[in-house]
Amino acid sequence: MRFFLDTAVLAEIEEAAAWGLLDGVTTNPSLMAKAGVRDFDAHYRAIASITPGPVSAEVLSTTYEGMLAEARHLYSLAENIVVKIPFIPAGVQAIRTLHAEGIPTNCTLIFSPLQALIAAKAGATYVSPFLGRLDDIGHEGMELVRQIRQIFDNYGFETKILAASLRHPQHVLQCALEGADVATMPFAVMKQLFQHPLTDKGLAQFLADYQKLHAGA
Ligand code: E4P
Repeated sequence: MRFFLDTAVLAEIEEAAAWGLLDGVTTNPSLMAKAGVRDFDAHYRAIASITPGPVSAEVLSTTYEGMLAEARHLYSLAENIVVKIPFIPAGVQAIRTLHAEGIPTNCTLIFSPLQALIAAKAGATYVSPFLGRLDDIGHEGMELVRQIRQIFDNYGFETKILAASLRHPQHVLQCALEGADVATMPFAVMKQLFQHPLTDKGLAQFLADYQKLHAGA
């Protein structure tokens, strides 16, 4: 399973890349705003230059023509850009055209397995089911990943499941068990993947024992 970082903050992307854990990055307009980005094109280029994998950049238009024009522009910024398109009828139409042009897409705001099936039939490279937002309203987000996995396997779709809106390491673990192809997560969650109290306790004990040995020597 690949790990993507769900952020537009360059320092976080650089740090995750240094850990060797970064397979890609996802952004959305809210994350760009949160990072205080003004010049979107320059920022996408900067992210793409430090990311050793796909970088999702989202269109802002909601019309077929508008999304196509934006998608072609975004894809011209860097060769690892994947164009993020919302799951609306015009978006699905745009995904079909972009697929024919060889432009990779990430169909976002997926909340049902049938939406994922429609996006895959249109030729989306990735679908992004939003697990945390489903959990937030009392649904079981992980069931969505399970159902999409089964549908894609039933019919041999090559579209990748990019599990999004992940809130904690348990989400990442469950995604791995359910066969999601990618988990995109906030920086804080990626950091938490390293942490276990018994690792810290064990290391402290090893170092303390070594010190004791040398203190007595
Ligand atoms: C990523 O592609 C999504 O835009 C993101 O994971 C949404 O996360 P949120 O529900 O925490 O905003």
